[in-house]
Amino acid sequence: MSASFALDFSGTPPPTDKYSRIADDLARQGWSVQDGFIADALTAALKAEALLLRDAGAYRRAAVGRGDAQQLRPELRGDRIVWLDGVDTGPATQTYLRELESLRLSLNRGLFLGLFDFEGHLAEYPPGAFYRRHLDQHQDSDSRVVSCVLYLNPGWTPGDGGELRLYLPQAQPGELDIAPRGGTLVCFLSSVFEHEVLPARKPRHSLTGWFRRREA
Ligand code: OGA
Ligand code: MN
Repeated sequence: MSASFALDFSGTPPPTDKYSRIADDLARQGWSVQDGFIADALTAALKAEALLLRDAGAYRRAAVGRGDAQQLRPELRGDRIVWLDGVDTGPATQTYLRELESLRLSLNRGLFLGLFDFEGHLAEYPPGAFYRRHLDQHQDSDSRVVSCVLYLNPGWTPGDGGELRLYLPQAQPGELDIAPRGGTLVCFLSSVFEHEVLPARKPRHSLTGWFRRREA
């Protein structure tokens, strides 16, 4: 006797993975928040590597602007950063950068964005530090296309502050406050979304960067 099965695929969501969810979100609304984008163990290992670099004195006060126009403006921005291309990165950071490379290729396949590379830094906001409302694209360059912020703060609670506030455009009016919880990835179109970092009560760690296209 043979069994027969009636397979009914109606109502089954199309095959999806975490990269295509981000691509869909970017296409639909220009931003995406993925809780648990990376596993807790990788988040913890990334944070440990960040703290090693910080304790070795690698972090510097972050500037605004680029090139000759760079300035330290603590009234605008109080974080301390280290650019990833200037240091030997540890195995967890390399694992995460490979993950971002897969995301980059997936976004290019799905959205034809022509993303060419990734530039990124680790950041620490000391308690009370903030980053006032800004746009990630520099005035003289449109090379930054997608901003990607990964948070490295296990056990972050609402009272800890430090939210990323995204200002949504007319089509989706309002503000979106995102807690910098460990493992959460936020992506948004760098030319569209003004945003700011609200002051935190505890040191706030992140790995932030940009998928770029070639400059015209
Ligand atoms: C930035 C920035 C957001 C965050 O570094 O440009 O806006 O949530 N970071 O850390
Ligand atoms: Mn920014």
